Amino acid sequence: MRRDAQAQMSTTSSTREDSEVEDLFSDSLQSLYGYAPLTCSSAGSIFQYHLQEDHLRWQSVTRQGLLRLTKGEATSETDAIITLVTPMTESKNWSLHASSIWTSSLFLADHLRDLQIDQHIQAVKESGHANLRILELGTGAGLPSILIARCFDGVEVIASDYPDAKLIATLQSNVDTNVVATKCCVVPYAWGNDTSVFKRQTADPEETQDEHLMDVIIAADTLWDPEFHPTLLRTLQMLLRRSTDARVHLVAAIHTGRYTLQALIDSIDDYGLELEAALERHTSGDGEREWNADRAEQERRQWLIWMKIKWKRVP
Ligand SMILES: C[S@@+](CC[C@H](N)C(=O)[O-])C[C@H]1O[C@@H](n2cnc3c(N)ncnc32)[C@H](O)[C@@H]1O
Repeated sequence: MRRDAQAQMSTTSSTREDSEVEDLFSDSLQSLYGYAPLTCSSAGSIFQYHLQEDHLRWQSVTRQGLLRLTKGEATSETDAIITLVTPMTESKNWSLHASSIWTSSLFLADHLRDLQIDQHIQAVKESGHANLRILELGTGAGLPSILIARCFDGVEVIASDYPDAKLIATLQSNVDTNVVATKCCVVPYAWGNDTSVFKRQTADPEETQDEHLMDVIIAADTLWDPEFHPTLLRTLQMLLRRSTDARVHLVAAIHTGRYTLQALIDSIDDYGLELEAALERHTSGDGEREWNADRAEQERRQWLIWMKIKWKRVP
């Protein structure tokens, strides 16, 4: 089911008066001019994400084991909501843009189905591993990571972001508040650094060399600065499991700049990776088209790119 992301944004609740004024202003612009906001919340404000039918069904199955509940049946109102505090960062780290929840993150949450987590869990079980390892890079408030942990059993989610003390404390608190800490751990990590921080906490003795690797890596709105592309791609190269099933999903708003996004696409090959698909998707959820770096720039606030990346060759 597709969902109107902008309609969802209008259900966002914020405790701070200034962000309420901002939201009101943004809502008016949306209805008057079709203006699409790039973020859904501001630093320190509370954001509530309402789970959709798919999420509720997965969550019910996860909670009830084999007992399959009917579509959309939730056990309580709080089960149907994820409540997040939007992080603040130390002033020296404002350039990380971690103090908002961005549209790409919301879109990823709304379209979790496209990560094909069920199939990944199945493949991982067949290959003899206990859990599917999913890493989110630059998670910010943690929405996709927390949602995945809420919806699926058989997953080990790693919500990671830059080692900024304020940011990481809020992220950890969001994980705890939404009661997913047993399936979702927070790892402070600056792209390109030593990846041993991602080693499994309970190491499987048969898997000593692969303990840090991930089956799926996701990231929302992390591509705006081309200076970060080499370290981000190097991180993917270091952390993606050497398997034909392993995938990276990068979602980014096209306001990032088409040539900036194309620059990343052009360098994927240098890291032994391959672009499997690149689709432009409308933020409303209605409409998709093939990526085209030369497309005219109008309406770029309403479109995102969703890239799917895999290994070029698996040894
Ligand atoms: C635009 S925000 C997106 C946040 C979140 N994914 C969302 O969509 O709401 C970019 C995120 O990438 C993280 N980031 C940027 N540069 C980074 C780096 N070099 N290492 C680790 N994280 C980084 C920021 O801290 C921030 O959380």
